[in-house]
Amino acid sequence: MDDEKELDDVLKEAIKEAEEAENSRVLYEKKMRFLGRMGIVMNFMKRMKDVPPEKRPSFGKKVNAIRDRLEEAFAAFEERLKKRELENKIAEENVDVTMPGKRRKAGALHPVSLVKAELIDIFAGMGFEIFEGPEIETDYYNFTALNTPEDHPARDMQDTFYLNDKFLLRTQTSAGQIRLMEKKSPPIKMLSPGRVFRSDDDATHSPMFHQMEGLVVDEHITLCDLKGMLDEFARVMFSETSKTRLRPSYFPFTEPSVEVDVSCAACGGKGCSLCKGTGWIEVLGAGMVNRRVLENCGIDPDRYTGFAFGMGVERIAMLKYGINNIKLLTENDVRFLGQFKEEN
Ligand code: DAH
Repeated sequence: MDDEKELDDVLKEAIKEAEEAENSRVLYEKKMRFLGRMGIVMNFMKRMKDVPPEKRPSFGKKVNAIRDRLEEAFAAFEERLKKRELENKIAEENVDVTMPGKRRKAGALHPVSLVKAELIDIFAGMGFEIFEGPEIETDYYNFTALNTPEDHPARDMQDTFYLNDKFLLRTQTSAGQIRLMEKKSPPIKMLSPGRVFRSDDDATHSPMFHQMEGLVVDEHITLCDLKGMLDEFARVMFSETSKTRLRPSYFPFTEPSVEVDVSCAACGGKGCSLCKGTGWIEVLGAGMVNRRVLENCGIDPDRYTGFAFGMGVERIAMLKYGINNIKLLTENDVRFLGQFKEEN
């Protein structure tokens, strides 16, 4: 067949193929088949030596012309395909900014954490400093130094997890009173939050719970100071009209000892099921620091006096939020915990 005729056929075929390429990758493969280093057009160049000398110039010109035409044609097709592909990609990735966003579930603070933070806030505002003691305590700090030596009947007030003869899981944050008073001399104004442990388990008792201990030691501290401070605490924690009352009680580390009731915020003191008709709810234990405790810490009880108080954080949370079973506070059911989410 005539070489030049053959070249015309190649041109036609190449253009047809380029037209049919469905994407730029296929087009590139076709381009290489015709215009690549081993491609069909290059093969014609290589055949030059077999062409009779007089025909070589026109044959060479023709091959070059066809190569140029093809390059142009492939470039044009490529541009068209690439443009179409880009448009498709943009259409695919199009973001509809009017669609509603996906909501992320936000966590919430645990009611015990909320109450603990609020207590710290209230007392820090009155000038109390925070002191945290260890959860594994010695018998001495948890009991003996708090005027509850071995065989003292008051040890039965708290069912204790003993680790061995000397160590136990602290049953009360009161142990922190001793640790602080050993280190620091009056004036003292301390707040000690923390976990405590007792072998106790029912609807209102859990083997692990949180307490908040308070201690004030200085010259001329009286029970009236305690009462005034507790009134302020009740007003902020429960309601503007809350009142407190003191009832005589017994703790080995305080003399006199009191139990503190807060007027029932649910019924305003008239009597309801929450306060069992009394109008009052017991919230904490307190008293004037027993002089033996001061002596145990090297503080002169003739010069200094002090008051102390201890409250259960779970108990305050239960009263404040109307929770009727302490177990709800440890089950970590998100349906329960989600109810304490602060709206923002
Ligand atoms: N530690 C006592 C308890 O766990 C509570 C308590 C009572 C603490 C009187 C005090 C206090 O500081 O003065 O039952």
